[in-house]
Amino acid sequence: MTLREWIEHYQESVAMKQVRYRGVLAWKNVFDLWVIQEIIHETQPEVVIEIGCKFGGTTLWLSDIMKTVASGRVLSIDLARPAIPFPDNVDFIQGNSISDETLAKVRKRAQGKRAMVIADGNHTADHVLQELRFYGPLVASGCYFIAEDGIVDVMEWEKFTPGPLVAVQRFLTQTDDFEIDRDREKFILTYAPGGFLKCVRP
Ligand SMILES: C[S@@+](CC[C@H](N)C(=O)[O-])C[C@H]1O[C@@H](n2cnc3c(N)ncnc32)[C@H](O)[C@@H]1O
Repeated sequence: MTLREWIEHYQESVAMKQVRYRGVLAWKNVFDLWVIQEIIHETQPEVVIEIGCKFGGTTLWLSDIMKTVASGRVLSIDLARPAIPFPDNVDFIQGNSISDETLAKVRKRAQGKRAMVIADGNHTADHVLQELRFYGPLVASGCYFIAEDGIVDVMEWEKFTPGPLVAVQRFLTQTDDFEIDRDREKFILTYAPGGFLKCVRP
């Protein structure tokens, strides 16, 4: 099996169908979950903003991680509410991540807190670029904005491109507040190549 075949197999047959946390599907590359856990432990955010909740497996995982290796809340946003009940340290906002209404609610909960963002919603380059512009200023210095699924650009999956990696490249021409942290790609098989953005704002 080539690396490309493995990545396609993982995407189609594993990540979308067989990765569960507490029995709930988590649409994630498990290597990335481990790296996110390390980031949370090292940077100690008070709030993790998850854009794109889907079934909620990753939300439940973030909730537990925020109770064990850090201490804080999860703010999850999605167009649709998942079927699961949320734990006591999770807030859910139903809405478009870039609408004025959603942004007002997010700012109210995150402003003044040490925040990090995991953008895993609409992966088109235009949309992710707007999320980077709106949510980037909420990320605390030393914390991360993780733009998920830039793998679509690297793999040149036409149906999904231009995707998050293109958004990141455009964003980084407009700001000095973030740098790509390649050390977070240490497992090589990440779905967020070029997407671990460290806030280096003074
Ligand atoms: C890739 S799934 C999220 C997977 C989830 N983060 C996980 O780890 O299991 C993308 C989700 O983003 C949501 N979504 C798409 N566009 C959105 C938008 N503009 N605002 C908020 N959520 C959006 C979809 O409804 C979908 O549930």
